[in-house]
Amino acid sequence: MAFEISNEQEMIRLMARDFAKKELEPMAARWDREGTFPVDAVKKMGELGLLGMMVPPELDGSGAGAVAYSLALQEIAAACASCAVTMSVANLSTEPLLKFGTKVQKDKWLADLAAGSLLGAFALTEPGAGSDPGSMTTRAVLKKDKYIINGAKVFITHGQYADIINVIARTGQEKGTRGLSAFIVEKGTPGFTVGSREEKLGLRASNTVELIFEDCEIPAGNLLGNPGEGFKVAMMALDSGRIGIASQAVGIARACLAEAVSYTGQRRQFGKTIDSFEAIRFMIADAATKIEAASWLTLAAADRKDRGLRFTKEASMAKLFASETANAAAYMALQVHGGYGYTRDYKVERLYRDARATTIYEGTSEIQRIVIAREVISEQGSASPS
Ligand code: CAA
Repeated sequence: MAFEISNEQEMIRLMARDFAKKELEPMAARWDREGTFPVDAVKKMGELGLLGMMVPPELDGSGAGAVAYSLALQEIAAACASCAVTMSVANLSTEPLLKFGTKVQKDKWLADLAAGSLLGAFALTEPGAGSDPGSMTTRAVLKKDKYIINGAKVFITHGQYADIINVIARTGQEKGTRGLSAFIVEKGTPGFTVGSREEKLGLRASNTVELIFEDCEIPAGNLLGNPGEGFKVAMMALDSGRIGIASQAVGIARACLAEAVSYTGQRRQFGKTIDSFEAIRFMIADAATKIEAASWLTLAAADRKDRGLRFTKEASMAKLFASETANAAAYMALQVHGGYGYTRDYKVERLYRDARATTIYEGTSEIQRIVIAREVISEQGSASPS
């Protein structure tokens, strides 16, 4: 495997690191405590080109690509995991337009999404349709030149602040994953309102809300792709989204390791700093090894995406392994802090709560295993017998 991080990708990583250290890290604990969505910091991320990194230059984006995106997102996550999920979902929201949008739709929205003057969101999940989005009931009915949407979406990342939202709704009579379609709904459309906001365990500076559609009329021209293609649009967007969440998890895990190393190098017990004990050293070694592996899995998925190869399996492997690693690293980091780690005075307490979401959203670990197993079995099944 030939894989090298280019100078340009490295510069993007350093730019994101610098921004995260100066603008996010000093504020992250306060945003978490107060449950504040950091509007100004998100605007700055947009100005730096971090919210539409897949948008190509001919559409006024940076076209930085998935590897650069992953490197930058890891840096943002290490400072503020909430900001990282905002960045991840904003980038995810450009994918349906990039892959399924008409020229008119791309020209209308992508440049502003890439510049951060518009914030995009993605609405798939419903109260009764989480791991199984094919059971959704939100419906869009075509009447002349408009679709009329009725239903509700839940757990929508920054839904309250989004300017445009990718909404998946049922248009056909078929059941399950067939008969779904994808739409763009703009903020302020009559019949579209933001419902309740979730009070979450972690990622408290990321906004998570319910969206309600009551006879919400949108132009028929806001349909993305063909009617009935909605599930495919959602799954392709989630393949990319999973690289984002894997990157977020790697960033959280790195921050956990850094906190653990720093604390155990200062904390003295039995007459020595506790990092001199083998029990602690083995924990650090295991975490560092898993983080390295998670990072390479994530970059490998991103690299396949940049090279235009299929990356469904690799994105799920990265998301599964990196999210489990983030949780293990957070557990380890809190453990070595002892009682102090259990208090709000130490960053590991926040990291521990933030890590927890990564094995759940954008497909639980169990869903990732389903995707990986299907892909592996179909690859092996299609291999010719020797
Ligand atoms: N790319 C393109 N097409 C895909 C695809 C992919 N990755 N995965 C599936 N499809 C297509 C299939 O080829 C199939 O097409 P045909 O009907 O033409 O044959 C169709 O979609 C149906 O596929 P499946 O039969 O595999 O569907 P399924 O019902 O068995 O579900 C699943 C598969 C993988 C379990 C899927 O439902 C899934 O990923 N569930 C998890 C949902 C999820 O991740 N939700 C997260 C919500 S978003 C979020 O968390 C965002 C946030 O704010 C942080």
